[in-house]
Amino acid sequence: MPDLSETTSHLSPLMRVMQFAARKGSRNLLRDFGEVEHLQVSRKGPADFVSRADKKAEEVIIENLGRDRPGYSFLAEESGEITGSDKTHRFIIDPLDGTTNFLHGIPHFAISIALEREIDGNPKELVAGVIYNPITDEMFFAEKGKGAYLNDGTRGGADRRLRPSKRDIFQDSLFATGIPFLGRPGHAKFLKELHQVMGHSSGVRRMGSAALDLAWTAAGRYDGFWERGLATWDIAAGILIAQEAGLIVESLSGGDVLDTGDIIVANEALMPQLKQRVE
Ligand code: IPD
Ligand code: CA
Ligand code: CA
Repeated sequence: MPDLSETTSHLSPLMRVMQFAARKGSRNLLRDFGEVEHLQVSRKGPADFVSRADKKAEEVIIENLGRDRPGYSFLAEESGEITGSDKTHRFIIDPLDGTTNFLHGIPHFAISIALEREIDGNPKELVAGVIYNPITDEMFFAEKGKGAYLNDGTRGGADRRLRPSKRDIFQDSLFATGIPFLGRPGHAKFLKELHQVMGHSSGVRRMGSAALDLAWTAAGRYDGFWERGLATWDIAAGILIAQEAGLIVESLSGGDVLDTGDIIVANEALMPQLKQRVE
């Protein structure tokens, strides 16, 4: 269970607020994750229970952010758009990214929170993001122009600057992706992309949380990531964290990546090589 009293005084006030909300939401998730195991044996499985856990975590996150930043707007997976008195600031929240993992008792999921801001009528831009893995107590975070960091609670809690991998040889590189499933389009296209990447690289992982895929790419664990059809809340925080770590983030289908949800991320050397295989 994360210690909410741990010192965060070196963080900006905004970062403290976002990390606190993520940790608060995670307490609920962790408690419910402990229960999920017992529910696996029922025929229907724990689906309803997990959907309640998801909603509960979102409520806690919104309640905390709303208390500390009154008036800000929200876009949250379960609640949708909540327009506040301040339309220039919007928190984008996925209270549980990796739902299928959670549902199956697989300990790989995260809370993702981003803040978007509109200044002087210019289009909104991502200014802050946190991705928190309650199982490993890893907090990935970034603010625009300040770099990306990882606070690993299990290793003494010091912040470490995130740097992406410097690999430039495709054959040596490890990639992450998301595989479309029942109800999602693009199965045949995905198989072609996978064929192109798996045959020429060190391997491809499908861990089941796009937010953590992005955070792990920012941390240099993966050399690149691509996935199509993601939602704004899946990728908002991860885009900023990846960019601030020094990675290139693009849309696979033109336009703005937050709008299309078709994302590709890699360092400068690998980007053209990955693109060529998945576009
Ligand atoms: C999902 C995860 C997964 C991705 C799916 C997303 P959810 O989010 O990010 O990795 O492949 O497309 O929907 O449903 O667990 O919040
Ligand atoms: Ca998600
Ligand atoms: Ca979710």
